[in-house]
Formats: sequence, C-alpha cells, structure tokens
Amino acid sequence: MVIAMACDHAGYPLKITIKEHLKSRGIDVIDLGTDSEDPVDYPIYGKKLGEFVAAKNADQGIAVCGTGIGISMACNKVKGIRCALCTSVEMGQKARQHNNANILALGGRTTDPDLAIKIVDAWLSEKFLGQHHTRRIEMLDEM
Ligand code: RB5
Repeated sequence: MVIAMACDHAGYPLKITIKEHLKSRGIDVIDLGTDSEDPVDYPIYGKKLGEFVAAKNADQGIAVCGTGIGISMACNKVKGIRCALCTSVEMGQKARQHNNANILALGGRTTDPDLAIKIVDAWLSEKFLGQHHTRRIEMLDEM
C-alpha cells in the first residue's frame, strides 16, 4: 500500500510522527510537503494531495494542518476525493466503513499524536461496508 501525505507548517510535526509510524508498519509513504514549520498556505498542499490521490498515484492520502479543517476543505475541492476530518477513533472507523474516505485529515494542533495514530490505524484497518453506502459515495463522486 502507498500512502501520500501533505501538510502545512502547523501540521508538519504530526505529519512526521504519522509518517514514521506508517513506515514502521511497512507502508510506503510519498511525502508531498511541506518540509518545515515555515509558514505556507494549506490550500496549495491540500490541492496537491487531492490531485495526487485522485490520479491514483497513491492508494490513499493523509492531510494535516493546524485543525485539519482548511486542508480537508482544499482536498474536497478535487473531484473524486472524499476527505474526512476525524477527531476520534470512531470517526476514523466510520470514515472507512460508511464513506470509504480516500483521504484522512487530522489536526496537528488539536489532536494528540497518540490519538492521531490510533485514528490512522482505525481508518486503515476497517473495511468499506458497501451496500447502500456505495450509492451514497457514488452520489458524492458525481457532484
Ligand atoms: C495555520 O495557522 C492554520 O490556519 C491552518 O493550519 C489550519 O488550521 C487551517 O484550517
């Protein structure tokens, strides 16, 4: 599995923590930046990640900014992207089971790193439930 990651300056420390965790699990990571805590604009990185995942250059993506809000908004502007901002393990599970989110967004300033890793693992390990959820995500993808 290949996971692409992107962040702004506020999400940079959490992105590095998650990246190391993914690598320790044997998951390949493509890091699309940013590469420091120097201020940058999150829409640039959300768009970059969204387009990368939509083009199927990675299986899934993880986006991090200060709250996860701005970068998730940017990712969701890209057709075919279903980016879910999650703040709990249950949300991470549901983002997979019901929404089959292809990008997970997290808040580097709002979510504790240990919890963030649990959310990532939940989102990765759950399965999409299909059935009526398929129709709904197809409706999203047609918008
Ligand atoms: C950056 O200061 C902050 O606004 C950004 O990381 C994010 O939280 C926006 O939604």
